[in-house]
Amino acid sequence: MKIVDIEKKLNKMLKKSRYEHVLRVRDKAVELAKIYDQDEKKIELAALLHDCAKNNEEFYIEKYNSEFEELKDKRNHDPDMENPKLLHCYLGRIVAEKEYDIKDVSILDAIEYHTTGRVNMTTIEKIIYLADKTEDKRNYESVDEIRDLSKINLNKAIVKSLDNTIKYLIDGHREISISSVNVRNYLLKGE
Ligand SMILES: [Fe+2]
Ligand SMILES: [Fe+2]
Repeated sequence: MKIVDIEKKLNKMLKKSRYEHVLRVRDKAVELAKIYDQDEKKIELAALLHDCAKNNEEFYIEKYNSEFEELKDKRNHDPDMENPKLLHCYLGRIVAEKEYDIKDVSILDAIEYHTTGRVNMTTIEKIIYLADKTEDKRNYESVDEIRDLSKINLNKAIVKSLDNTIKYLIDGHREISISSVNVRNYLLKGE
């Protein structure tokens, strides 16, 4: 599928504010791709599609039920897959493959792990993760620090972002993804 056709379909499927977020994530991700010498085309596709299932979770879970169950088995029934906030990451992977014709596993993985991260993240995954958290309109206390760090050291930027997310989840008395805790511990060790 051509980029313009992907944009058209996303524009139709997502609400306006979400689509505009996606375009800003694309710009940020391409900026980081240049800094870290990554494949810009792949990064652009992953960024555009990272939220392709957002706010349509119920529709897609019905449509792609067998694929979703398959992914659950593959992930050994990871409790993250029961978290409603994370559903769009798993469904996003499935929808990107089925409806946007993405076959490249590195792009599909970047979509699947864009919210939680994972141990041994690839550079593409790190860039999509950070672009989502630092696109131009994101506005929270430590965003400038994470934005600046992401241009110098992806791992440090992710740790800082996870610190922030985990604090926010605790303050909101919400569930914390085990993957996020694991990836934070893993990256801290490498510092
Ligand atoms: Fe998302
Ligand atoms: Fe997003």
